[in-house]
Amino acid sequence: AKLLTLCFVVFFNSPHTGGQNYQPDVPQIPTACITVEDAEMMSRMSLRGTRIVVHLRMGAKTYPDSLSFNTVAEIVGSKYPEQVVLVSGHLDSWDVGQGAMDDGGGVFISWEALSLIKDLGLRPKRTLRLVLWTGEEQGGVGAKQYYQLHKENISNFDIVMESDAGTFQPSGLGFSGSAEARDIVKEIMTLLQPINVTDVFDPADGTDIAYWMRDGVPGASLHNDINKYFWFHHSQGDTMTVQDPNQMNLCAAVWTVVSYVIADMEDMLPR
Ligand SMILES: *[C@@H]1O[C@H](CO)[C@@H](O)[C@H](O)[C@H]1NC(C)=O
Ligand SMILES: *[C@@H]1O[C@H](CO)[C@@H](O)[C@H](O)[C@H]1NC(C)=O
Repeated sequence: AKLLTLCFVVFFNSPHTGGQNYQPDVPQIPTACITVEDAEMMSRMSLRGTRIVVHLRMGAKTYPDSLSFNTVAEIVGSKYPEQVVLVSGHLDSWDVGQGAMDDGGGVFISWEALSLIKDLGLRPKRTLRLVLWTGEEQGGVGAKQYYQLHKENISNFDIVMESDAGTFQPSGLGFSGSAEARDIVKEIMTLLQPINVTDVFDPADGTDIAYWMRDGVPGASLHNDINKYFWFHHSQGDTMTVQDPNQMNLCAAVWTVVSYVIADMEDMLPR
């Protein structure tokens, strides 16, 4: 997920990287931060009267932009191939950690949606398209490009879905769209009663699907237990061990059921 605020507390001896922007024409003074653990240690040292000397050596660099691509795969619809249900996550990650959570989780439940449907030998009426966005962390670069290239067909985009806020224990679906569409989505979510994930929240959230939602396309995002999300976010703590396979399976079930049913309904969601 793109940085929302600049102040998080992380406890893995790795600070949240934060973010730094400059107004034009001001001296670009570097910024740095220390970990919670080091701050607490310095506090203890200071309390016992030790004089603290910090040697600061910074190696951060900003490199020029380079070429990158969105990654797209799809199951072409059997009856309305030109109409699209889009599932997505972003493939890039922040420089520290592995990006397993942000946003490897969203990427892989979206991948699973297509993979499970294929394994089940199903083919929905309309096209189910996976987009793994590039450059989300840099400001939604891939999403903007995709929107510009495809907006001419906006009337054929049924729903845009993005998971970019964790794939922990799922709790429901965030949805943006008309009241009529919301009623349909609520009914679809009752199919997930067996795993007790039936709630529909308002609105949907996702940097990469925002252009479409702004222009009236229904949107959905995954709701899950984000209590620990900002423990790991944009820190060295964002590694594979953060991901729980059982919870991810439940997230993938939500994502697959919602995307498949919407892609296989006779009509597109009302706007
Ligand atoms: C828009 O839809 C038409 C008709 O399905 C298709 O031929 C065309 O390639 C689409 N444009 C883009 C940019 O995908
Ligand atoms: C089902 O989920 C709700 C909240 O979404 C929770 O309050 C309830 O305890 C859950 N029930 C079971 C059987 O897990």
